Amino acid sequence: MAQADMTPPEGAAADWTVPQDWSAYTPGEHAMWDRLFERQAAMLPGRVVPEFLEGLDILRMTRPGIPDFAELSERLMKRTGWQVVAVPGLVPDRVFFEHLANRRFVAGRFIRRPEQIDYLQEPDVFHDVFGHVPLLTHPAFADYMQAYGEGGLRADGLGSIDHLARLYWYTVEFGLMRHGNDLRLYGAGIVSSFGESVFALEDASPNRIGFDLKRLMRTQYRIDDYQQSYFVIDSFEDLLRKTSDVDFGPIYRELETESDVAPDAVLAQDRVYHRGSQDHARA
Ligand code: PHE
Ligand code: FE
Repeated sequence: MAQADMTPPEGAAADWTVPQDWSAYTPGEHAMWDRLFERQAAMLPGRVVPEFLEGLDILRMTRPGIPDFAELSERLMKRTGWQVVAVPGLVPDRVFFEHLANRRFVAGRFIRRPEQIDYLQEPDVFHDVFGHVPLLTHPAFADYMQAYGEGGLRADGLGSIDHLARLYWYTVEFGLMRHGNDLRLYGAGIVSSFGESVFALEDASPNRIGFDLKRLMRTQYRIDDYQQSYFVIDSFEDLLRKTSDVDFGPIYRELETESDVAPDAVLAQDRVYHRGSQDHARA
């Protein structure tokens, strides 16, 4: 999301949105979506939270081809009041927060090329739409995303975007949820990744630690490899309660004098579900 220049690129509106231009996708691009979709659809049952699969269903995302944002928006609007809008790439933080605060999810419209099937630097339409959009059908998650946008605008004014961004990273992108005696995936960065959807849940390498707001805001993260720690929430309602009902102002002030926590650290206070071997990170 970081981007210093606030001027939208040519062809984009003042709020940085562009038309999705759905009819311009080639058969090859739709086929790429289908390939990615089938791979994840085979992987996710039993691993992802049921709310995600319900979201795919509600939005009719099980049909082939790159979804039409207008159609997704129409279905989402009826459920939770959200829309999906296209942007040309990364947008400035404030633009991103403004959209979320108004229940608009910004999504990239391009799809990765075949040689990028397993790794790509910038989020494409598969990550953004397959990964993020299904859970926007869930009322508590939908409220959380809006509250995050409002919280982002506030954090910007307080100079605390970096701390808040870790909350997004370790929940929206890489979150796990307790499910009976098991853990399930819900983070978009995991559910859209072939490798990480197994690694995050089943590999001995990463830590799996209970959600704690301040702990998580202190924790640095990796952008170049699988995560070294994942954080586990009890439910979306619980996540909403522990964030939306809390004034982050005093927490940001406390954090100014507290040290960061390394991505692989386990602290005495942690509720540890699994202490990682960190073999993957060392290899
Ligand atoms: N309660 C937060 C604040 O005081 C806002 C927020 C809510 C941030 C939910 C993230 C998620 O700034
Ligand atoms: Fe994402």
